[in-house]
Amino acid sequence: MNLFKRMLATCAFSALAAAGAASAQAQDYPTRNITMIVPFAAGGPTDVIARIVTGHMQQTLGQTIIIENVVGAGGTTASTRAARATPDGYTLITGHMGTHAASVPLYPNLAYHPDTSFEPVGLLAGTPILILARKDFPPKDLKEFVTYVKANTEKLNAAHAGVGSVSYSSCQLLNSVLKINPTGVPFNGTGPAMNALVAGQVDYMCDQIVNAVPQINGGTIKAYAIATPERNPSLPNVPTTAEAGLPEFQAQAWNAIFAPKGTPPEVVAKLNAAIVKALDDETVRKRLLELGSVIPKKEERSPEALRTLVRSEIAKWTAVLKPLSN
Ligand code: MLT
Repeated sequence: MNLFKRMLATCAFSALAAAGAASAQAQDYPTRNITMIVPFAAGGPTDVIARIVTGHMQQTLGQTIIIENVVGAGGTTASTRAARATPDGYTLITGHMGTHAASVPLYPNLAYHPDTSFEPVGLLAGTPILILARKDFPPKDLKEFVTYVKANTEKLNAAHAGVGSVSYSSCQLLNSVLKINPTGVPFNGTGPAMNALVAGQVDYMCDQIVNAVPQINGGTIKAYAIATPERNPSLPNVPTTAEAGLPEFQAQAWNAIFAPKGTPPEVVAKLNAAIVKALDDETVRKRLLELGSVIPKKEERSPEALRTLVRSEIAKWTAVLKPLSN
């Protein structure tokens, strides 16, 4: 056999051996700790949901899932890092409507694309958005809030978790509906932002329900309305925006797990199965529901369902936010 054919045979054998090794690795996955990147500060909604669900997932997977909070740029710093990670299933990210949808129209040079830079793994929770304010903010209800913020827009400051975050994007929608332009006050997550709201250092915020239920029930902040068609069982006394006279403000976020593009399908399947098992666990469900989460229905839990959701949410939030940035 001449030299060329020998080299070809060697290359083919090496490729086959590498493919075999990768497949064996995927079959044995996971054999060591898994890193779950959370793109915001500890204590915020993304962090809380990630810890609740991965806390159960690690029992199924038999390996520790280590949460790593990587902050900055509305979650896009972390998402860029996750997109560039080795696609072996040992680096994952808990993204959401901000990092994996609204960031696309808000960052023209985004270093990743939510749809093509990741393998969707599975949806964790839907998270309705609320209009929140410091407890001594003068308006008593949403109607008064609308009148007050229109009359005082240049004096107001609104907290958010960075351009591209859920809190930023959803309040961009609210501000455009009300035609107001408050000063935005960025934080590394709505965990720290909530601390500032409770302390009265900022005026209002649009935030995911899981971050607000304890404070609302504790009376340390005000909740004017929830931006979903129905009230939420965890906050039965908080009216919907429609009931309170602002039906045009509708906003719901979601949190989901993504892996870098190229992560083997067998690995994605094992991770998805662990998510599904967690979402069917009574303790996990109780904790998520107490915080106002919407637990995904069975048909919403597959990787393909998440891919469809990401694509539709990118289109939705591009239509909402692109006109605001012109
Ligand atoms: C967001 O605003 O995107 C998140 O609520 C931030 C966070 O989870 O801390």
